[in-house]
Amino acid sequence: MNLMNQIKEKVAAAFTACGFDATNTLVRLSDRPDIGDYQANGALPLAKSLKQNPRAIAEQIAEKLRSDAFFEKVSVDGPGFINMRVADSVLGQQAFGVLSHPQCGYERPDTPKTVVLDYGGPNVAKALHVGHLRPAVIGESIKRICRFVGDKTIADVHLGDWGKPMGLLITELQDRHPDLPYFDADFTGEYPAEAPFTAKDLEAMYPLASARSKEDEAYAARAQENTKLLQNGHRGYRALWQYFIDLSVADIKKMYEELDISFDLWRGESHVHDRLQAMIARLRQQGIIIPDQGAEIIPLGKSRGGNDLPPLIMVKSDGAVMYGATDLATIEERVDEFAPDAILYVVDARQGLHFEQVFAGAAKIGLADHISLEHLGFGTINGTDNKPYKTRSGGIPTLRYLIDTAVAAARQKMESGEMGRDLTETEKEHISRIVGVSALKFADLMNERMKNYVFDEDKLTSTEGKTGPYILYAMVRMKSVLEKMGTTPALTPDDIITITTPAERQLLLRLYALPDSVQTAYDNRAPHVIADYLFKLAQDFNLFYHDCPIKGADEVIQKSRLALTRYTLHLATACADMLGLQIPDKM
Ligand code: ARG
Repeated sequence: MNLMNQIKEKVAAAFTACGFDATNTLVRLSDRPDIGDYQANGALPLAKSLKQNPRAIAEQIAEKLRSDAFFEKVSVDGPGFINMRVADSVLGQQAFGVLSHPQCGYERPDTPKTVVLDYGGPNVAKALHVGHLRPAVIGESIKRICRFVGDKTIADVHLGDWGKPMGLLITELQDRHPDLPYFDADFTGEYPAEAPFTAKDLEAMYPLASARSKEDEAYAARAQENTKLLQNGHRGYRALWQYFIDLSVADIKKMYEELDISFDLWRGESHVHDRLQAMIARLRQQGIIIPDQGAEIIPLGKSRGGNDLPPLIMVKSDGAVMYGATDLATIEERVDEFAPDAILYVVDARQGLHFEQVFAGAAKIGLADHISLEHLGFGTINGTDNKPYKTRSGGIPTLRYLIDTAVAAARQKMESGEMGRDLTETEKEHISRIVGVSALKFADLMNERMKNYVFDEDKLTSTEGKTGPYILYAMVRMKSVLEKMGTTPALTPDDIITITTPAERQLLLRLYALPDSVQTAYDNRAPHVIADYLFKLAQDFNLFYHDCPIKGADEVIQKSRLALTRYTLHLATACADMLGLQIPDKM
């Protein structure tokens, strides 16, 4: 059992032994390490309900706890807080039992949940841009946190592959290459396996087509018609569309691989097309979908928060299906296929209303009865001027640009000697990539998701401050300490910690606190809690490294300090993994 749970048990037993109800002991980590490691505040509500003096109650409970050698000191402070300091010997002896296992003391719930995660949200034939960093990085981390906790996860990239952009591209191609067989209604042969264009061509074509549709009404109307024809199964258009998908997905996959982000499913909006048609027919018949000014809608009533919601448009007046409709059909598919306990959508906060509508629609048709539908929004990435981040030349940065900028900044730090002093040229090349990407991801994850943050490549690749490189440096140091001393990271029950300095104690207590951070991060879908924990762990380790030399110390202490380094590396690795950070061997 981890330390927190042991202490909870002990405190509850003390409450009971004093004749009090132990359902509300309110045990937590202390934020006053000078007076205790853990705190129990349950005497206060108890005193209120019993109309007694809280200090007197706390004192009785404290007296019981004092008889347990587990605690070195138990005091009652303020109006009735019970502060407990755990005995050093207990902290030292429990290390292996609690910290060495794969979840580092986190106790998984008995019944794991099944969670579908919808993140990334890239669109076919459009270059990934600055707006695609956060959904990918945050979604990946939330998935990893869910897995750490024991959930079964299914990650779906949910490609945007079925809307108007597809019709725009088809229209543009039609104008540029009217002779292609895809536009010949009489063509009955096989279409070529190779596309007559590249992914780059498509990315360049899309903005032009989009701009043109805004000026040229006839063009826009054709694009709309082509979208509908594609959706309804036009053979030539489907063939073109398949090229769009294949080319884009190959590119998108490469980019995500670079970021160490992966998906179980590469489905898109198109995937539910047939299901959606059936769903629409059924809901029409049930009177849930009703006609409205030529379109078909589901009226929604109030949101979960009590606001009046605009109706969910299922089919537009031109017959094309809408974004909300595909999302609704996708919920149905996920429920049928995976019976999930939750579906998490890591999507820009500006799509809040869209998800409120979709979730209300799902509730209305009975899809949301046993499942938690959660829109996990996030804020924007800003420049140092606090406006949405732009490239040096003022354009919207692509994701490629962001990655390259971070990697170049990491490389720059190597040239200036801030890091990588002992690396060869080839190592620098390789390691600046790992450091740059991890720095980029950490700078994103360390912020509360809903907040905007400032992208400053120089700061985020610094080895000082709350940054990825600061953490990576500490972890590389842990590895190199162990390597230099010829010690493997594997731990055994003999790896007891002997506390001789405040730095060792502080670090060890930090290690025992991981389960709390994991639970908070999981409950709130908040990777920043893990980022924050890992940063503090790195700080505590650096203090320990500075204060507690290994070489020259006596044998027992040397062994203990090496073990403490190994436990720290074990937990830091678990946290880095939850954040999706890669750690170089040197830097
Ligand atoms: N492709 C969409 C966009 O660019 C994001 C998709 C988010 N996921 C979803 N199930 N709607 O806005």
